[in-house]
Amino acid sequence: MAVPLLDLRLQYAQVKDEVQRRLGALCESQQFILGAPVAELEASVRDYTGCGHAVGTSSGTDALLAILMAMGIGRGDAVVTTPYTFFATAGCIHRAGAEPVFVDIDAATYNMCPARLEEYLRKKCRSGPDGRLVTAAGNRVRAVMPVHLFGCVCDMDRIGALAAEYDLPVIEDAAQAIGADYPSEKGVTLRAGAIGEAAYFSFFPSKNLGAFGDAGMATCRDEDLAAQIKLMRNHGMGAQYHHEKVGGNFRLDALQAAVLLAKLPHLDEWHAARRRNASLYRSEFTRLGLLDRITLPAEPYVESGLKNHHIYHQYVVRVPKRDAVRDALTAAGVGCAVYYPVPLHLQECFASLGHSTGDFPESERAARETLALPIYPELTGEQIREVAEAVAGAVG
Ligand SMILES: Cc1ncc(COP(=O)(O)O)c(C=O)c1O
Repeated sequence: MAVPLLDLRLQYAQVKDEVQRRLGALCESQQFILGAPVAELEASVRDYTGCGHAVGTSSGTDALLAILMAMGIGRGDAVVTTPYTFFATAGCIHRAGAEPVFVDIDAATYNMCPARLEEYLRKKCRSGPDGRLVTAAGNRVRAVMPVHLFGCVCDMDRIGALAAEYDLPVIEDAAQAIGADYPSEKGVTLRAGAIGEAAYFSFFPSKNLGAFGDAGMATCRDEDLAAQIKLMRNHGMGAQYHHEKVGGNFRLDALQAAVLLAKLPHLDEWHAARRRNASLYRSEFTRLGLLDRITLPAEPYVESGLKNHHIYHQYVVRVPKRDAVRDALTAAGVGCAVYYPVPLHLQECFASLGHSTGDFPESERAARETLALPIYPELTGEQIREVAEAVAGAVG
């Protein structure tokens, strides 16, 4: 029996009545731009994540662009992130006019490696005339942007402490991590999107909380920054047709907000089902004696007792001869995917940054060795066994 990588129809069956009720009410109102559903979703995301302010946007990508524009990050500036992430992370830095600077990832979590960040800030930058860090290309370092990849929060205590030392704001790329918890050493539990100065989520349909198209949300701590992000989301317009800044049309569609409001109450049970599937994979791979050949996802915060220590947006394993395993699984009808085959420093569009193979070895190794397996909440135990057995057959 074929097992797809994702089947959203099963999720829709659970929320169909509520989605249709909300969409029906919206159709009756004919109020499609911002309005009540967007405001209600922003308030719900604030409650759910503990962030200070939330601003609904047309996508995660647009949320990030709006944040960078609102922070005044542009030409002559640089933002530090990782090369093993979805393109938008660095694409937006570049589109804002700034330089994307990369530091390598941690081999176990695939998230920004604090030691590499430290090395970059201490050894590879110089101090500018005003005491601020300047990159080798001569741009001012303005922010650090860790990516909570695959649904697990980065080591934010160490990253935050380093950023604070250099007076740099942290922008969380929480596109894949809504609901993911972080056991801060300060003794408090923090949730993705409420840890740095600003953050953003993607509601791309395949995300744990997915819209019926593109949608996203920017979050931040500071009220004035939230006001600037809101301004940027609507053409920089304050009073009607009076433009204080050049912004864009980054507004969240009310139809998408209505869909997301219907889904949000289910999110924690869907996260829990993804974790249950991850632990079923662990049992199956153990039973099949595969643990010496494949590397399962790290769970750095599992001992914290936090429910959402990982939300498994993707379930990503390392396998030998990855491309051959992917082809064998595909031939066996098991959905799988490579996130991401080309690290950002080696993308053609960033050739002008002057990087070459070998610059970020862990990102390059992850791009060669990792494979995502089906993890969506509605998978059955039998399907997980089938996937595990297909992996055993493919790995040999
Ligand atoms: C890590 C990461 N950053 C940014 C984005 C961009 O979000 P969106 O697709 O909503 O524009 C995504 C989503 O695809 C992502 O996974």
